[in-house]
Amino acid sequence: MRGPHNIIRLIRTGATFERTGAMNLVLDAFEAPRPLRVLIHTLSWPFKWLGYKGDPDMPPATRALTALGPAYIKFGQVLSTRPDVVGPELAQQLRVLQDKLPPFSRAKAMAEVEKELGQPVDEIYSEFSEPIAAASIAQVHRARLSSTGEEVAVKVLRPGIERAFNKDVDAFYFAARIVDLFAPMARRLRPMEVIEHFDGVVQGELDLRLESAAASEFAANTEKDEGFQLPVVVWNYSARRVMTLGWADGAAIGDNAALDAAGHDRRALGERVLSLFLRHALRDGYFHADMHQGNMKVAANGDIIAYDFGIMGHIDEYTRRVYAEILFGFIQRDYRRVAEVHFEAGYVPADQDVDEFARALRAVGEPIFGMGADQISMGRLLSYLFEVTERFGMETRTELILLQRTMVVVEGVARSLDPRINIWDVAHPVVADYIKTSIGPRAVIGDLISTAQVMARFGPRLPALVEAALIAQSHPQTPEPRGGKTWMLPAGAGVMGGITIALLLSEIF
Ligand SMILES: Nc1ncnc2c1ncn2[C@@H]1O[C@H](COP(=O)(O)OP(=O)(O)O)[C@@H](O)[C@H]1O
Ligand SMILES: [Mg+2]
Repeated sequence: MRGPHNIIRLIRTGATFERTGAMNLVLDAFEAPRPLRVLIHTLSWPFKWLGYKGDPDMPPATRALTALGPAYIKFGQVLSTRPDVVGPELAQQLRVLQDKLPPFSRAKAMAEVEKELGQPVDEIYSEFSEPIAAASIAQVHRARLSSTGEEVAVKVLRPGIERAFNKDVDAFYFAARIVDLFAPMARRLRPMEVIEHFDGVVQGELDLRLESAAASEFAANTEKDEGFQLPVVVWNYSARRVMTLGWADGAAIGDNAALDAAGHDRRALGERVLSLFLRHALRDGYFHADMHQGNMKVAANGDIIAYDFGIMGHIDEYTRRVYAEILFGFIQRDYRRVAEVHFEAGYVPADQDVDEFARALRAVGEPIFGMGADQISMGRLLSYLFEVTERFGMETRTELILLQRTMVVVEGVARSLDPRINIWDVAHPVVADYIKTSIGPRAVIGDLISTAQVMARFGPRLPALVEAALIAQSHPQTPEPRGGKTWMLPAGAGVMGGITIALLLSEIF
């Protein structure tokens, strides 16, 4: 029964694209040859009336997706994070997609909360406001807990949103399969992989427990960060479709007049936003990836409060170390070093030329460093860097693009607080500090301790392992795989060495 639905959806999608003029953009992205273009336009033209007209004031791609509804809007937003797939220009266009929608009523929201938490709303909250913000997946109400009198924000998923999204996602899979089958030249766009990525992002947002978990993990990491606060999750009143979170009280970080009236030092705020973001990305490898002005406030005491944990970025420790060195190389304008780091990490294939790569990196770095301090952008530096590394055969990585994009947003927030902020001056100590702790002697000890911890976990099994190794060593006639004997001795020695190190370390620490 699904097939026909999906076909109707596809036709409507195609018709809307044709009607809004977005079809050409899609065909460009697919690098469709002329005859195919003519064929597609001819085929979809008669169905044009089936498509939505959309808002003629918007650029074509935005117009088509907005007309087609929430799942398409979300899809556009996710694609905007994948310039590796749609190209930088379309990614830029898609970035402005707004997912603000008309809210559903307070009464409906209260019914949803009651159903989800299994308790009457007036027992939980003594106040529950009209919706204060509504997006494609959820909306937010301001409320007060009956038990403590504490003010909270309550996020509620739209009724029936899972079904609606899953239908559209189903149609996207269907389309991806068709493209895979019939348009081999479009495989470069990895349609299945892109839809799977999208599906993952959406499934994450359709379960608010994941956002609550993100909020609490982020809070644990940043507990000691000065001048930074996060609203606390009220787990008792949070579930899959409802999230209750402490109310962030303060001035909007985008409202300079209000910040001045409250006597805040905007320059200090801007520098703090930047250095906090960098520290989270480098130190924790876990950062808020949606740090626009709508998701931050400034508390009366000057603390920055962040919320909306729907998009978080992860960077593993190895990648963080590599990129700290790369950034540091750029800060010192040591392009040869930056190039070498790429080769050492295996990011750029060994058959590429180091010197040529270093020269390309200089062409990226020098113009940026030549700018006035108030124009330098680390986000832009990273985006140029990724263009160069891609040219030299490095695979594009989604988490790094997310980092780069967020950096551009954070720089924008910082500059709007005070245009004179010097991004390098703020970044330098954070990067240098991270390098000191992550690559210096303390880091080596840290690595040894983790190794010892692994050894310790295997501790109870070590005697048996050693015995087995030694027995095998003294009974060469025991049948074993070819080449087996040659590894037994080093393995035995390795185990003994490991025990010694573990014992030594347990003495020291
Ligand atoms: N904990 C909170 N305290 C105060 N206001 C909040 C809180 N959480 C959300 N809001 C308000 O609701 C709006 C939408 O919530 P948000 O979590 O940003 O959802 P979305 O993903 O739709 O942007 C925010 O811009 C903010 O105005
Ligand atoms: Mg938000």
